[in-house]
Amino acid sequence: MEKRIMKIQDTESIKHRWKITAAIITLPFLLMLASSAMALKSSEDDFKLKLLGKYIFFDDISDPRVQSCASCHAPKSGWTAESSNVNKKTVVVPGAQETFGTLKPPSSAYASFSPNFNCSGEGGNVNEAPFICEGGNFWDGRAEGNEVADLNILGGGLDRYTKYLGAIADQAHASPFTNPVEQAVVNITEVCEMIKSAPYAPLYEMAYDNAPIDCSANEVETTFGRIALALSAYQASDEVNAFDSKRDRALAEDFTFPLDGFTDQENLGHALFHTTNLNNNTSGPRGANCSGCHSNKEPESNGEAPDELFTNMQYQTIGTPRNIKIPDNPEPNIGLGRLETIVGIPVNGAMNGFHKTPTMRNVDKRPIRTNEFVKAYGHNGWFKSLESIVHFYNTRDAKPVCDDPVASEKKALRKNCWPPAEFPDTIVPNGVMGNLNLTAEEEAAIVAYLKTLSDIPTPKKPKPYHLRNF
Ligand code: HEC
Ligand code: HEC
Repeated sequence: MEKRIMKIQDTESIKHRWKITAAIITLPFLLMLASSAMALKSSEDDFKLKLLGKYIFFDDISDPRVQSCASCHAPKSGWTAESSNVNKKTVVVPGAQETFGTLKPPSSAYASFSPNFNCSGEGGNVNEAPFICEGGNFWDGRAEGNEVADLNILGGGLDRYTKYLGAIADQAHASPFTNPVEQAVVNITEVCEMIKSAPYAPLYEMAYDNAPIDCSANEVETTFGRIALALSAYQASDEVNAFDSKRDRALAEDFTFPLDGFTDQENLGHALFHTTNLNNNTSGPRGANCSGCHSNKEPESNGEAPDELFTNMQYQTIGTPRNIKIPDNPEPNIGLGRLETIVGIPVNGAMNGFHKTPTMRNVDKRPIRTNEFVKAYGHNGWFKSLESIVHFYNTRDAKPVCDDPVASEKKALRKNCWPPAEFPDTIVPNGVMGNLNLTAEEEAAIVAYLKTLSDIPTPKKPKPYHLRNF
């Protein structure tokens, strides 16, 4: 009998050991599978150009060599600032020389879908105010989309890359590399030389039909334009724009909401996000009107389009309060107020404070799952959590204005008030937002839904480049 028990125990422990061994064997195997799923696929269109862009994106092309694009657009943080501490405090990521800009890095993923910047009058009156502006890159759209195109750097067989011209190529060309508050390299010739001497430099020739990286005075403009184009191509890759979140996976199984792969709370959040009901005082389904701005597919799609970007790529003033924690407390960013005229008509401040509506994809993506890793929201990062920005949409106009006009988010929440908007004259009026009459459960459901929009794969810095045959 005892022997039998021993035997059972033995087999149990063998089984157990086998499970552990199996786990040890399968774990690296699974990791391998997972990491190959994350890699830039060689089957992608224009793979070499994209791979060149990827190496440049992750390379510390800065002075001193401490900062890459990924320092401010880290995939693991949803392609925004890498550091929780920065998000919590200064919001602005210090440049390579420890000097500061004035804005929060928006997500660089999904930005490649932005069309060229353009404005036109509402209701088909193209030349009449009020104007709606859309497209471009940056919070104020000033990477408009024609700058790299005007350099004429393609031609011949390279015309196949024309699709990478546009706003995001202009953004890379603008350029973070030589901006003193970003990577701070002294000039584009230096940037060119750094890439020329990098181990991955052969990719440039491979991508550009054997044209050498020429950093001479006559050619550097062309070369630098082509570097910007490679960054644009990478940022247009499936690796960067994965469309592979919990929402996308559950939708691919099910096609229509409510999704089986969602909790009831997430399905409720989806319904609220994508339903319009001004102030929730009309009969019909309750809604939070978010998709009025955070959708490029509605009204046709009802939130069910697989390639939903969660932004209409237009500009609005939601009433974000001033953030005085940004180093040197700069004047609030004027956004589209940069435009003095639109189609020849003077704008007279009507566009002050208009900022680009950001994508909701990856708004909750963080290196760790909990809110202990702080993310900052809005162009000046005044908001520190999804909970608080959703609460703001719900109650901007329902709560009193804070006595302290420059209160922090923490103080405003404690005092149950909201500070005045940076640009109160141009804010989106009550109705669409500000007094939505949502319950605490409904606010929480919207947050739960936003959390389903994080891409599951996380691209990593590529391994050092070794010459290979493709
Ligand atoms: C020091 C931090 C920093 C570095 C380094 C940096 N960025 Fe940014 N990035 C920002 C900030 C801040 C903005 C917003 C600036 C503005 O709107 O005026 C921005 C905006 C962008 C946008 C616009 C997104 C949109 O939706 O409009 C893209 C794309 C982008 N950066 C890509 C890059 C690339 C590519 C590099 C490397 C060549 C880079 N960034 C380097 C901070 C940084
Ligand atoms: C009228 C257009 C509009 C509506 C409606 C709207 N948003 Fe926004 N949203 C914006 C704009 C514009 C910004 C950028 C604001 C800024 O920088 O000050 C923004 C920013 C955000 C951000 C911060 C993202 C980031 O990366 O910094 C979140 C989160 C957000 N909105 C969620 C929502 C939710 C949830 C709703 C519905 C309750 C909603 N929005 C309704 C236009 C809108």
